Amino acid sequence: MAICFGRVLLIIIILKFAPECTSFQNKFYRSKSKALTAYNRTLTTLSKIGCSVECARDRSCRSASYRETTRECMLSDLPSFVIDLYGHDDLFLEVFGTTEWTLVYRGIPRIGSNPATAWLTGESVTSDPACQQLGNTSCNKHFRHSIASDWSSLNIEQVKIAFYKGSLEQNITFDGRNSTISNWFSQSRILSSTWPGVRANASFNRFKTIDGTRVFVVSPSHSTVGCHDDLHFAAVIATSGWCAYDRPSAYPQIYFATGEHAGKPETMTGMDIADGFAIFIK
Ligand SMILES: *[C@@H]1O[C@H](CO)[C@@H](O)[C@H](O)[C@H]1NC(C)=O
Ligand SMILES: *[C@@H]1O[C@H](CO)[C@@H](O)[C@H](O)[C@H]1NC(C)=O
Ligand SMILES: *[C@@H]1O[C@H](CO)[C@@H](O)[C@H](O)[C@H]1NC(C)=O
Ligand SMILES: *[C@@H]1O[C@H](CO)[C@@H](O)[C@H](O)[C@H]1NC(C)=O
Ligand SMILES: *[C@@H]1O[C@H](CO)[C@@H](O)[C@H](O)[C@H]1NC(C)=O
Repeated sequence: MAICFGRVLLIIIILKFAPECTSFQNKFYRSKSKALTAYNRTLTTLSKIGCSVECARDRSCRSASYRETTRECMLSDLPSFVIDLYGHDDLFLEVFGTTEWTLVYRGIPRIGSNPATAWLTGESVTSDPACQQLGNTSCNKHFRHSIASDWSSLNIEQVKIAFYKGSLEQNITFDGRNSTISNWFSQSRILSSTWPGVRANASFNRFKTIDGTRVFVVSPSHSTVGCHDDLHFAAVIATSGWCAYDRPSAYPQIYFATGEHAGKPETMTGMDIADGFAIFIK
């Protein structure tokens, strides 16, 4: 009887905690040996998991810090990337950030301004939050969040670039630690992508923020015999170039591969024109 009860209890415990564990893993990334220097609330929890559960429960919590020695759980309403961190060597500290992404850039097609220059320099952009909304089709400037200018002082963990058409999203996630506004978009920093061929160990012909008249270019290494065979996962045409696909009726034109493989923009094989693209950080 006691053994049976024990088993039932064990099953209940497993059922109770398994979903919480899964959502915990998806909701947070962790940065060891660091602590937030500013926070809004402090609680006492038995473990760092308990602390992150408290943050997950609290609608306004965007990041948390747990100090194992005192069991203090510090919750902050701000994402960890805008708060200074300290405690490089203290193994008893950990920072949790919620995996919510903050949109810092939105590139808009056919508005006549170079999206790479806009991103890198902040030239002729808007920081109007209305244009941060992906669905807003009435913006005539690229959106750039004002914190993008402080890139190197933000504690960025990851950067994501996403290309959209209707409900289709293709994306690449990069390691953003110690990056600059111009070097996060690089092959060696790739963590994951919806395109199976876009991996840190894959080979690329081009993986560049600016490649002549094309920007945010992700092009695999296949031999490119003329424009017809040019293969791209993504390529944003900023100004007029060599191939027919480099000369759309309005700039920028955002090409992206809609399936698992790279596509050919010259013949629009496996390729489509995106409604927009965006850069996110967390
Ligand atoms: C939370 O703390 C931050 C600074 O750490 C502060 O800017 C913000 O106003 C606080 N939020 C509330 C609701 O008190
Ligand atoms: C879209 O952005 C424009 C320009 O800032 C703004 O005036 C408008 O209210 C926004 N529309 C929506 C639906 O958010
Ligand atoms: C990338 O896009 C897919 C949809 O195609 C989505 O399920 C996934 O969550 C996105 N990745 C990130 C890191 O947001
Ligand atoms: C980032 O740079 C700091 C200071 O140079 C260094 O201590 C840290 O290990 C670096 N982190 C990564 C992930 O490269
Ligand atoms: C790249 O790494 C992945 C594992 O992350 C592995 O499955 C794949 O075979 C590797 N590809 C190459 C070309 O080395």
